[in-house]
Amino acid sequence: LNQKKVDAILAKMTLEEKVGQMTQITLGVVGTQTDGEINPEALKDAIIKHKVGSILNVTNHALTVDQWHNLLTKIADEAKNTRLKIPVLYGLDGIHGQTYTLESTLFPQNIGMAATRNLELAKAVTKVAAKELRASGVRWNFATVLDCGRQPLWSRFPETYGEDVFIGKTMGAAVIKAYEEDGLNKTTAVASCMKHFLGYSASRNGKDRTPIYLPEIEMREYYLPQFREAVKAGASSVMINSSIINGMPVHASKYLLTDILRKELGFNGVAVSDWEDIKRVYAWHHVASTPREAVAMCVNAGVDMSMVPSDFTFYDLLIEAVQKKEVSMARIDEAVKRILMLKMKLGLFDNPYPEENAKANFGKAEYQTLALDAAHEAMTLLKNQDNVLPLSKSKKYLVVGPGAQSISALNGCWSYTWQGKEEQWYPKDSKTILQTIKEKVGEKNVLTTTAKGFESPENFDADALTKSAKNADAIILCLGENAYAESPGNIADLALDENQQLLAKAAIATGKPIILVLTEGRPRFITNIEPKINGILMAYWSGKKTAEAIADVLFGDYNPNGKLPFSYPRSSGEIVLYDRKPAEDIREVFNDDVHTGYNPLFAFGTGLSYTNFTYSNLKLSTKNLTGDNNLQVSVMVSNTGKMDGKQTVELYSRDLYASISPDMKRLRAFQKIDLKAGESKTVSFTLNKNDLAFVNTSLKTVTEAGAFKVMIGDLSDEFQYK
Ligand code: IFM
Repeated sequence: LNQKKVDAILAKMTLEEKVGQMTQITLGVVGTQTDGEINPEALKDAIIKHKVGSILNVTNHALTVDQWHNLLTKIADEAKNTRLKIPVLYGLDGIHGQTYTLESTLFPQNIGMAATRNLELAKAVTKVAAKELRASGVRWNFATVLDCGRQPLWSRFPETYGEDVFIGKTMGAAVIKAYEEDGLNKTTAVASCMKHFLGYSASRNGKDRTPIYLPEIEMREYYLPQFREAVKAGASSVMINSSIINGMPVHASKYLLTDILRKELGFNGVAVSDWEDIKRVYAWHHVASTPREAVAMCVNAGVDMSMVPSDFTFYDLLIEAVQKKEVSMARIDEAVKRILMLKMKLGLFDNPYPEENAKANFGKAEYQTLALDAAHEAMTLLKNQDNVLPLSKSKKYLVVGPGAQSISALNGCWSYTWQGKEEQWYPKDSKTILQTIKEKVGEKNVLTTTAKGFESPENFDADALTKSAKNADAIILCLGENAYAESPGNIADLALDENQQLLAKAAIATGKPIILVLTEGRPRFITNIEPKINGILMAYWSGKKTAEAIADVLFGDYNPNGKLPFSYPRSSGEIVLYDRKPAEDIREVFNDDVHTGYNPLFAFGTGLSYTNFTYSNLKLSTKNLTGDNNLQVSVMVSNTGKMDGKQTVELYSRDLYASISPDMKRLRAFQKIDLKAGESKTVSFTLNKNDLAFVNTSLKTVTEAGAFKVMIGDLSDEFQYK
């Protein structure tokens, strides 16, 4: 039915109307910077004259739900004045909640969600994000990021699910499904966007939008599977990688955008460009020699909609390109059909206005509980020397470091503003680490020498720290990174800034026990200070309830269970990945302790608990897996400590010999369980040959016959695949 309606509309459309549908501009073009108010003349110019089909973004800060409704109503009203009354599709980046609405609930960034290893939790969080987006009238979310986080320098690393393909593809697909599964015409769902197709995170120097050199075998092994699964999960749209791979702008690559994305993966939703990237095929990449050639190349390659976003050049140039037969009408129709179909599915043709009844879905109290659950499960305890944690509530603590009094460093990028740094836009009930620690132990038991957050130089007063430490039983040192997004987050290396290092050294010099709390989006080097630190909690950027979750873990009101979704590197020369090749594990000791090998400061999957879990009784249903049969693997997990806890049971496999050097281990399955103190549970996994596959030199995903190892916890066993 929708298809027929779309065909009928398309048949009536002029070239200009079609190209307008393919044009997306930013709100700044039609709105004011201060209050999200619309400029009526500019809106008319965009919607009536240039017939734009889509608008994105927010001006420079978050809006209230009512401001959103007001703004989107004006846009919908104007679209009603067009000849065919085609509604405008509004999109934005709600990557960890409805990031641009005041008082919406922010959850952990993807990197923290990956640490939870909890797919149900990821789905629950996503459903809230969808409801709050829809409650504010927004029906298209540019989420989720499926780029694999294998370059920790990358300024968008916190938006990734970490270095592992399996976590990325399972959690990514669960999230895509959660956004959409209620049905896009329902007020509890939004159109999702898989981004950024393809290989965006593999930048050589980690700087955003810089060249990528990626052999196809690697692309298919580590970067494509997440998109394949997301397509199967029903993703409605995709955003393209801003960069160039092996010299080719992805926006202009027919091979990637049509042959792989459409033909191989079977994706039939909308492909939107990233910000100004079509223009850059000419201006930055010099692959097109004129702006019009760039437009034609990208549209012909498979881009359906251009995030222009600040003018109408794309509109003008695409019309010219069609008139000059550089782009066929068939290609335009194909793109417009996809866009209209998405609008149809979203119910925009029936009601283009923000749905009044959806407002009730905004800001429910239960979302706060869920935000705390998610932040709790993200918390990853990396070190707990001599059980320094949990801390006693009846001692005195010195709480220092730029993270102690920062809200933005708990939330990170895309939090109420693009960069997430502007704390005036955060909900008034957001708490700092200092506050939540005071709530645990009483104001009089907390000392600090730290003033504001990362921007303030007073944070680094080493002398004041030394003096105050005399009256404290332990120091809680809060280091890490303030919020950043995209290229403003570019850094030259992962070292902590000098002031933080000085502060850490001053803390160490006091001789007091030190608990390091890291609020950071990517691993910053702590190798020099780590030996002198007694406890380390990785908190990531875990959203609105990060500070509460940190304090709960530090003082034993919550038993930590997060697991690192990346390998925490020691130094720039040792950026290593857990799914390494055997040769990477060969340790050669020469004169000194010089070695190669997987030797991170904290391995992928590290995550301590306040209780003990032991693994026993690893059983394989067969030692000979054949053809398409299944192999059942089970293991008994026991909580032998004194505290109830959650544990993620991770199953890894290793192909012992293969036609290309096989990975030392690959995560193939995981399950998160709750175990009361003293309780045991048997956890079972079902594997088949596809779970053991790899990409071979013919670029095929294959499982070769031979011996495999299966590893769970500290147990392992071998089986043959025939
Ligand atoms: O969705 C984002 C993308 O991830 C990065 N560039 C801007 C887009 C729109 O805000």
